[in-house]
Amino acid sequence: MELIDNKYKIQGIPVEQLREQFGTPLYVYDAEHIRGQIRKFREGFSTVDLHIKYACKALTNINILKLMLREGLGLDTVSLPELRMGLHVGFKPQEIVFTPNAVDFSEIEEAVALGAKINIENLSNLERFGQKYGGSVPVCIRLNPHIAAQANSEKVDWWHKQSKFGISIDQVGDVKALEEKYNLHIDGIHIHSSSVIMSPEIFINGAKAVFDIALQFQNLDFIDFGGGIKVDVGDGNPVIDVVELGKQLDVVFSDFCQKYGRRLQLWFEPGRYLVGNAGTLLTTCVLRKRNGGSEFVGLNSGFNHLIRPMFYNAYHEIVNASNPTGSTETYTVVGNICEIDNFAVDRELHQVREGDLIAIRSAGAYGYSMASTYNSRYRPAEVLVINGEAKLIRQRDTYEDLLRNQVEIELD
Ligand code: LLP
Repeated sequence: MELIDNKYKIQGIPVEQLREQFGTPLYVYDAEHIRGQIRKFREGFSTVDLHIKYACKALTNINILKLMLREGLGLDTVSLPELRMGLHVGFKPQEIVFTPNAVDFSEIEEAVALGAKINIENLSNLERFGQKYGGSVPVCIRLNPHIAAQANSEKVDWWHKQSKFGISIDQVGDVKALEEKYNLHIDGIHIHSSSVIMSPEIFINGAKAVFDIALQFQNLDFIDFGGGIKVDVGDGNPVIDVVELGKQLDVVFSDFCQKYGRRLQLWFEPGRYLVGNAGTLLTTCVLRKRNGGSEFVGLNSGFNHLIRPMFYNAYHEIVNASNPTGSTETYTVVGNICEIDNFAVDRELHQVREGDLIAIRSAGAYGYSMASTYNSRYRPAEVLVINGEAKLIRQRDTYEDLLRNQVEIELD
């Protein structure tokens, strides 16, 4: 979304026009932005055998998946339905990675049967995998190399608490023992470094630690660095420069490949990087209110549509698309859910009136995919702007949708 001639536009289409055509609340995605991010990623990693697996948990609309397929990407999935959606739009099973965490082994069996690439992140399922498949099905190992330890911030601390993921590097010996016991074919090493890694240096140091471990495995085809690459959301926090990261990682990766004796593939699983800034949640200000010294802007949306501000305290830039250059005031921007439901507190916006079109930016990743029907409100519609045209890619929920799976019984 860009401000051109005093109007916010997506590929030349004024967002006001989108509101007229599709109503609000509305998620709008810009296919051109997604394509641009893919180009940038490839530009960064130009000398290695790069494979991008879109982490579709970020935004699962099948048209977005189709776009990724068309752009030559693979897919990273965390559940069987995600895997099935990938197959549905035409991804080859071997282009889809299945990276669940705490799942029953039967899910992994089903993913094997569907032909996906399997990524295992705990010793229990690795043992079961060995018992069932031996070396007949290759498997990737998700490790937790604790690389964030090299940065020192509160966020990193938070990241450490998330270490339910992956097999700790302290347990590589156990992985080796299972490899030997079951003659496992370990063809990949995976780490997901999470968004807290913001400088190429930290990333590169972590990567080197991973390469050292990788040297202990003889049959690798790829190293997978997961996702977690941030995008600039306008909050002033630094983001990693992917082109710079690519240039630096290319060098150390090539060195590693030489040591390893073979040119391996380099995988990434970006979600947010590809779709985060491609998405905007268009809403309407339905209420202006002064209460307790605050000026409230009430939107026809809420954390049921975009939970990130309430759930993670995430910053999302908000603009008044109906008054993009007027004088500014400080507002608390709230939703209509029956509890504290802030999109932003003490945020400066161009003066807001009831009826104004309010756009919440950077909403492409983990926006719709984490939306719910809490308060029995409908989830928004979704529109993809592609080749200069706005196309509806998901209808707004209806009353029937809310009732669909409910089973009405006789109570006496
Ligand atoms: N690969 C793995 C193994 C992951 O766990 C994730 C995200 C990704 C790739 C993609 O990460 P990305 O590039 O999108 O950062 N709901 C949160 C984000 C949770 C991410 C979970 N894993 C949010 O709204 O910020």
